[in-house]
Amino acid sequence: MARRETLLKILDLARWAPSGDNTQPWRFEIAADEHIVIHGNDTREWCLYDFNGHASHMAHGALLETLRIAATGEGLAASWSLRPGSSDKAPVFDVRLEARPGMAPDPLLPFIESRVVQRRPMRTTPLTDAQRQALSAAPGPGYSISLFESSAERRQVAGFLWRSAYVRLTCPEAYPVHKEIIEWRTRFSKDRIPEQAVGVDGATARLMEWVMASWGRVQFFNKYLFGTIAPRIQLDYIPARACAAHVLVKADVPARGLEDHVRGGIALQRLWLTAASVGLHLQPEMTPLIFRWYARAGLTFSNVPKINEGALALADEFERIGGFGPDQGLTFFCRVGVSDAPRARSLRKSVDELMLTGR
Ligand SMILES: Cc1cc2nc3c(=O)[nH]c(=O)nc-3n(C[C@H](O)[C@H](O)[C@H](O)COP(=O)(O)O)c2cc1C
Repeated sequence: MARRETLLKILDLARWAPSGDNTQPWRFEIAADEHIVIHGNDTREWCLYDFNGHASHMAHGALLETLRIAATGEGLAASWSLRPGSSDKAPVFDVRLEARPGMAPDPLLPFIESRVVQRRPMRTTPLTDAQRQALSAAPGPGYSISLFESSAERRQVAGFLWRSAYVRLTCPEAYPVHKEIIEWRTRFSKDRIPEQAVGVDGATARLMEWVMASWGRVQFFNKYLFGTIAPRIQLDYIPARACAAHVLVKADVPARGLEDHVRGGIALQRLWLTAASVGLHLQPEMTPLIFRWYARAGLTFSNVPKINEGALALADEFERIGGFGPDQGLTFFCRVGVSDAPRARSLRKSVDELMLTGR
C-alpha cells in the first residue's frame, strides 16, 4: 500500500514538470492511498500563448508523465485517466498507483529536477549519433522528429524566429503577458520566470524593465528607437544560431482535443528529459508554432490586422522550411545543445501551496 508520505514524495518530485511561463496550471489532491487527483486549470483568459488552453494541456501531460516516472522510484506503477465529464478548462485527471515490487526505476528519473530551460547561447558542437537516436525515439509512438542541424539550416531557422519575434514584441495583446511573467531583478522565481533566466544581459534587462512599465513606452521605443532589435538579437537570433540543432516534433495525426494535447505534453517531457539524459540542454521555441495554431484554425489573436497577417506569413514560412503542408500536426519546437547549466532558473510552488486545500 502506498502511504501518504510516499505520495507526497512523488508529488514533490513531479511538481518540477515544466509549464508555459512557469504557470504550474495544476493543483494536487491525495484522494486515497493509491489515488492522486490532478486538478488542471488553464491560462487562456489572460495568455494569448495558451490557445484554447492547449499549452496548459501540454503542461498537464508533462506533469502526468513526470509523476509516472517519479512513482517508479517508489516501486509504484502510475496510470492516469481523464475524469469523464471534466471540462476542457478544468480537466481532472485520476492517477492510480499500484505497487510493483522489484520494479526498476525509470532511467529518466534522475533528470526530473535537473532538467531546466536554457535560453542563452549554447555550443554548436554537432549532435552525436547516439544523441540523435535518443532524441528520435524519445517522443514515442505517434510522433516523429525533424532536425535542423547544419549551419545553413540553423541560419534559416534563426531568420524565421527573428521575424516571429517581431510579431511577438509588437503585439499589444502579448504585452501584458510578457509583463506578468517576468520577475525582475531575480535569479530564481517560484511562480514566474526570473529576469536572469530570460536570456538578456543586465543592461538590456534594466532597459526592458523600464520600457515594459507601459505599452506607450513600448510603442514609442519600437517605433522610434528600433526597440525590438536588442531583445530579438539576444533572445532569438543569436541563440537560434548558437545551438546543435532545432528539433521539431510532428504528430502523425493532428491533435483534435484535450487528450491529444495532454499526449503531446507527455512527448514533450520525454524529449526534454531524454535530452538531459544525453547531456543536452533545451529551450522550447513555441511561439511560432502557437501562432500557426491560430492561423491554421482561421482565428486571430490581435486587434491589429498587420499582426494577424504576420502570423499567417509565419505559418507559410514554417511549412516551407519544414517541407510539410497546412494539415501537418505540430506538437513541439525547440533547440538543443551542450552548455554549462544556467545560473538562474524558475523554481516551483511547494507541494503545500499546490494542494487543493491550499488554494
Ligand atoms: C508547453 C510549453 C511551452 C513553452 N514555451 C516556451 C517558449 O516558447 N520559450 C521558452 O523560452 N520557454 C518555453 N517554455 C519553458 C517554460 O517557460 C519553463 O519550462 C518554465 O518557465 C519552468 O522553467 P524550467 O523548465 O527551467 O523549470 C515552455 C514550456 C512548456 C511546457
